[in-house]
Amino acid sequence: MTSLTILGIESSCDDTAAAVLRGQAGAAHVRSSVVMGQTALHADFGGVVPEIAARAHAEKLDICVAQALDEAGLGLDQIDAVAVTAGPGLIGGVVSGVMCAKGIALARGLPLYGVNHLAGHALTPRLTDGVAFPYLMLLVSGGHCQFLVVSGPDAFQRLGGTIDDAPGEAFDKVARLIALPQPGGPSIEALAKQGDAKRFKLPRPLLDREGCDMSFSGLKTAVLRQRDQLLVDGTLSAKDQADLAAGFQAAVVDVLAEKTRRALALYAPLTETRSICVAGGVAANMAIRTGLETVASDFEAKFIAPPLALCTDNAAMIAYAALEQMGTREPDGMDLSARPRWPLDQRAPAMLGSGKKGAKA
Ligand code: KG4
Ligand code: ZN
Repeated sequence: MTSLTILGIESSCDDTAAAVLRGQAGAAHVRSSVVMGQTALHADFGGVVPEIAARAHAEKLDICVAQALDEAGLGLDQIDAVAVTAGPGLIGGVVSGVMCAKGIALARGLPLYGVNHLAGHALTPRLTDGVAFPYLMLLVSGGHCQFLVVSGPDAFQRLGGTIDDAPGEAFDKVARLIALPQPGGPSIEALAKQGDAKRFKLPRPLLDREGCDMSFSGLKTAVLRQRDQLLVDGTLSAKDQADLAAGFQAAVVDVLAEKTRRALALYAPLTETRSICVAGGVAANMAIRTGLETVASDFEAKFIAPPLALCTDNAAMIAYAALEQMGTREPDGMDLSARPRWPLDQRAPAMLGSGKKGAKA
């Protein structure tokens, strides 16, 4: 296969992103990756507001694409294909990206590839570390939480996932409950270092149930109850905040580690060269990483965490997924549609609910 240059576009949540990638499946190089976040626009609302997100994407997409091309030192005439997130996500944002990509593809006569956002995350370890199939993937972010066995560019088996909140969403909500700044993950991780994780009894949801499904909503409610109890007797002291942060984080680590152990037990018989990969903003958490690394070593599996910029939402992963899938599928036509829900594993049972950042797929 010859080397190709792909323009990637991502706008499924609250980051407008464009990237240029060159290479082939298993050996590609990121020429540029621009991510324009919208955190400030949503800050007053306590979550991502879909209409505001869609409008901001529509305003920023062409600027973002121009910057990605500029940073790559290339013009549109040097691009071989356009890849765009076609779902799952907040529909207004996905439509903005798909329309932008269609415009470029049509104007330049380029092939168009609609990519599943989750496939982008799931294939990233091949871009960053050349990981061989099959590998186990744990997606943990503000909007996603699932275990996948990745056996090929379009072969994903879902072993389980959250039945309510994603872990990042829980970190953000708990931070709000105990008056810590957003995003909640980094605030809780920093404060947890000074806290006593054992002071409050917090649940480890669904550990008593077989399988790899997870739940984080009840844990968040348990923190709320403890906080309200403390407030009855006065204010929330700095020690209370640190102890609640530490207790909550320890519970998340325990749940993720134990469910990862079960996912690894299902995956391990498939291959002798085992890898467990993580993606998503929550994978930045060192306590979670350490927990997962310990479980990985018990199964003699390599633990792989791509650099954070490629772990969180970006367009390089979308361009790369298209590059991987090109060998096995035709480009999409101008009838490519944006999909709010798009499960990677069509055989897995549908998930309930939809997070603040869109469908959990
Ligand atoms: O993948 P990501 O950047 O975006 C989306 O989900 O769209 O993930 C963001 C999430 C936020 O909920 C944030 O609180 C969480 O990742 N996060 C963390 C940490 N850093 C970011 N959670 C726990 N510990 C961290 N250090
Ligand atoms: Zn994502």
